[in-house]
Order: sequence, then C-alpha cells, then structure tokens
Amino acid sequence: MTDEPRVHDASFAANESLWDAWTGIHATGEFYDLDGFRAGGVRLRPDEIEMVGDVTGKTLLHLQCHFGIDTLSWARLGARVTGADFSAAAIDLARSLADDLGFPDAHFVRSNLYDLADALDGQFDVVYTSRGVLGWLPDIRAWAKVVAHFVAPGGTFFITEAHPVMDVFENEGVGPAELRLSYPYWEHADPLRFEVKGSYADPEADVAGTEHAWGHSIGEIVSALIDAGLVVEALVEHPFLDWKVDFLVESPDGKWRLPPDHGPGEIPLMFSLRARKPG
Ligand SMILES: C[S@@+](CC[C@H](N)C(=O)[O-])C[C@H]1O[C@@H](n2cnc3c(N)ncnc32)[C@H](O)[C@@H]1O
Repeated sequence: MTDEPRVHDASFAANESLWDAWTGIHATGEFYDLDGFRAGGVRLRPDEIEMVGDVTGKTLLHLQCHFGIDTLSWARLGARVTGADFSAAAIDLARSLADDLGFPDAHFVRSNLYDLADALDGQFDVVYTSRGVLGWLPDIRAWAKVVAHFVAPGGTFFITEAHPVMDVFENEGVGPAELRLSYPYWEHADPLRFEVKGSYADPEADVAGTEHAWGHSIGEIVSALIDAGLVVEALVEHPFLDWKVDFLVESPDGKWRLPPDHGPGEIPLMFSLRARKPG
C-alpha cells in the first residue's frame, strides 16, 4: 500500500513475536474467557453493537482481529466475517475456533495491516477494529488509507479504542488517579520501546519481549480518515476503559474508571468513531 512503514520492519518483527507468544497465553487465561465464548457469548459492548447497527447478512472485515473472538461475535450477530492479523499463531487459533464452533464461512487472513490490500481482495459493508490496535501502528495516515480501501461505497467504518489523551499517562507502577504525564500525544517517528514480561492478560506468564509502540492524536486519527475519503458520522468519548491500567479502578460493571473520590477533573478514556464511505 505504501513504502513508508517499511522502515519499521524490525519493530513489526519484534511485535509479531510478542503477539505469537501472547496468543498461547490468551487462549487459556481468564481475560479472554474463551470457555464463555465457546458456550455462545458475544464479546462486544452493547454501545458498539448499536453504533455499528444491524449486521445481518452484511460482509464485515475485522482489522487486527487477534484470535478472532470479536470477529466471530459479529458472525453470531449475523455478519459474514473476515478477520485479519499479522500473528500466525492468532490466525491459526482463529481458524480452528471457527472450525470448532461451526463458522464455515468465517475467513481469516494473516497479513501485516499495511500489506493487507495485497493479501485480501474485495470491499466490505463494515470494516471494524477495536481495543488496543492503533498503538501498534507507526503511520496513522497509511492506516486510514487501508481502512478506506476496504470499505465498500456506502459502507461503514467503526473503531472503539483507548483515547489518545489517556495514553499520554504512565499506566504501570502508579496509584489510582495518579496521572503522570509520560508519553507524546502526537505521532512520532521513533517507536516507544517497552521491555515486557508476561502479558496484559496474565502478568505472571512466562513471556518476555520488546514492545514497539506509537501514539497518534485524536485529531490525527480523525483527519487521516477524512483525508482518506471517509465521512465521520459520530465520535463519542467514553469515561471508561475496557481493561485495567494502574491509574484507574474497576467499577462494579467491570469497566475501569478514575476512582469516585478523585475530584472534579475528568479525562476521556476511550473513544468510538463511526464513518461512512460515500456511496
Ligand atoms: C489488543 S489486540 C486487538 C484485538 C482485539 N480487540 C482483542 O482485544 O483481542 C491487537 C492485535 O493487533 C495485531 N497487530 C499488531 N500490529 C499489527 C500489524 N502491524 N499488522 C497486523 N496486525 C497487527 C496483534 O497481532 C494483535 O492481535
């Protein structure tokens, strides 16, 4: 799609091997509750289902699908799904889950996001991506071009993701409501490098590697989608995060928020965006 991200191949390789290792852990741990999913669960938030709308009979491409349980959740809601991810272990597991759980039409493609147009034909009624995807990508404008390439005319793009504002704060080794400004807000050429032990789903797991990560501002994300030809229809900022970080506390509904007694200040923790390709 573009030559630009190629300068990041070493970073992609490091991240890919981390994701291959993490996939094995995520398949068995509580975080992803694979047993609950096997038993018939749908692992999507009600508000994202509402924002995407009825997917019955629609084609849906899930970018950075990990091992496919969100992808197959959309299939349970009636979509004809394709998932794509660069982790071979994740795609193997997604394919075997689809076989085991009776989704013969679910299709999974192994590819780097930036190479996907060479690996996958067609356009889709819905292009979907969620929860922990953009931080692995160096170039948000090239990402938006890939997204727009795959949305069919008249089709929908939807993302729900950590809010870039919350990503500027240190999220490990800090106390509740301790907002320590630590990371860039706008896109940067050199990756942030984090030595990782374990996984976000299981900090005790026997895995080590180096995570290569990039930030992108909300303005850069929205502008990249507009410049790629999409029309932004809705942008919602949420006061919760779907996963644990150390400056938040868990609410009774299982989401992570600033502690109730932290004072009157607020920051957005996630965002959801829906865009349409003119038809
Ligand atoms: C946190 S998961 C997001 C998926 C899903 N929301 C979840 O919670 O499992 C991030 C996914 O991005 C994939 N990924 C990271 N960098 C990628 C790249 N350059 N191309 C394709 N996939 C990538 C990883 O393999 C991983 O499966």
